[in-house]
Amino acid sequence: MGSDSGQPRGQWNSGTGFILAAAGSAVGLGNIWKFPYITGENGGGAFVGVYLLCILLVGVPVMIAEILLGRATRSSPVRAFQVQTPRSPWIGVGMIGVLAAFLLMSYYSTVAGWALHYTYLSVTNSIHGAGAEQVQGMFESLTSSPLVGVVWQVVFIVITVLLAVAGVSKGIERCGLVMMPGLFVLLVILLGKAMTMPGWGDGFDFIFGMRFDNLTAAGVLEALGHSFFTLSLGMGAMITYGSYLRRKDDLVSASLATAATDTVVALVASMVVFPIVFTFGLEPGAGPGLLFVTLPTALAQMTGGAVLSVVFFVMLVFGAVTSGIAMVEVIAAFMIDDFGMGRRKACLIGGAGVTLCGIPATVSAIWFGRVDYLVSNWLLPLGGLGIALYVAWKMDRALRRNDFGSGSALAKGYGIWLWGLKFPVPVCIGLVFLHAVGLI
Ligand code: TRP
Repeated sequence: MGSDSGQPRGQWNSGTGFILAAAGSAVGLGNIWKFPYITGENGGGAFVGVYLLCILLVGVPVMIAEILLGRATRSSPVRAFQVQTPRSPWIGVGMIGVLAAFLLMSYYSTVAGWALHYTYLSVTNSIHGAGAEQVQGMFESLTSSPLVGVVWQVVFIVITVLLAVAGVSKGIERCGLVMMPGLFVLLVILLGKAMTMPGWGDGFDFIFGMRFDNLTAAGVLEALGHSFFTLSLGMGAMITYGSYLRRKDDLVSASLATAATDTVVALVASMVVFPIVFTFGLEPGAGPGLLFVTLPTALAQMTGGAVLSVVFFVMLVFGAVTSGIAMVEVIAAFMIDDFGMGRRKACLIGGAGVTLCGIPATVSAIWFGRVDYLVSNWLLPLGGLGIALYVAWKMDRALRRNDFGSGSALAKGYGIWLWGLKFPVPVCIGLVFLHAVGLI
C-alpha cells in the first residue's frame, strides 16, 4: 500500500533484515550502559532473574502486539489507530508514542554523544594510562562544558537522520546488517578478554548468583520497567518497523529472536563490565557513571586497554546509532503518513526539532533528569498500556488472528499470547506505572 504522499511504502528486503533492524532498535544504550548499572545498583543475581521473567512474560507479548498492529494496518503509530477506529481517543496512544520517541531521542542523543566522545578519546589514545582522578575529570569536563557535548550530540543526530533519509531497506536495514554483526563481533572480543581476567569469577557470580535478600519490590518494578525500555516498546517503534514487514514473514519468531538477541547482549555486556570492574577492585553500584568513569578507569590501567577501549566504545556507538535511527523513523513515519510529507523533508524536520529540544538535555542535568522522568515513568508505560489494551480488546478480531498466523510457524501460540495480553500484561504494566508515579 502506498502512503498518502503517493510514495511507495518502504519494505524490509528479508526477514533477517527485519530482525536485525528490530534488534538494532532494541539493543542500545539500554543494554550496554543502563542494564549493567541498574543490575549493579540492585545487587545483581536475583534482579537479573526477575528481569528475564519480565522479558518473556510481558515484553515478548507486547512486542508481538506492536509489530502485529503495524503490519496489519501498514501504518505508523498514529495512523495505525485511525485505520480501524477513526476519530476515537485511541489515537492519543499513537500520539503519546510519537511524542515519547521525540523526547527520548532528545536526551538519548546526549548519552550517545558521550559514547562518540569516548570513542574519539580512545582512538586518540587519551584514556590509556590516565589515573582514576584524571578519568573522573574527563567525564566532569564533558558534562560541565556543554559545547563539546553538544557538538557530539549533533554529530550523532546527523548520522541517524542521514541513515533514515536513505530509506527503510537502503538505510535502516543496511545499517542493521552491518552494525549488528559488527557489534556482536566486538562484544565477543571483549568477552574473550573478560574471561581471562582475575575478576571473571566474581563478576559472573555477581550477575548470576541468586541473592534474593538484595531484591526489593522497587527492584522488581525497575526490572519490569527496564524490560520495556530495552525492547523499545510503548512508543510505536515496533509498530513502525512492523508496518514495513512482509505478510509472508514470521512475526512471532522474529519477536522471539529480537527479544533473545537483546537479552543476550545485555547479559554479555554485563559479563564484560563486571569482571573488569572487580579485577580492579572498583564499585559495581556506581550508577550512571559506571560506563563513563568506572570502566574507563579500569581500561586505562589494563594491558591492551588502549585497544579494548576503542572496541568497547565503538560497540556502544553501533548500539546507539541503530536505536537512534528507530526513533527518527517513528517521527518521520508519522509526518510521512499523517502529513503526506516526503521522506527526506520529514527526516530533516524531525532531526532539526530533536536537535533544538535536545541541546538543553546536554547542557542541563536537571532538564535531562526531567525529560527522562517524563518519558520513562509516564509516557512509555502509558503508551505500552494503551497498545496492549487496544490490540487485546479493541482491534478487529479477524484481522488480529489473521495477521498473527500469517507466515508464522508458531500460529498455535495465538490463544496463550492473547490471554497474556488481555490479563497479566496490563496488570503488570499498570503496577509499574503506579509505582513510577509514586502511588505504590
Ligand atoms: N531499546 C533502546 C535501548 O535499549 C532504547 C529505546 C527505547 C528505543 N525505546 C525506543 C530505541 C524506541 C528505539 C526506539 O537502548
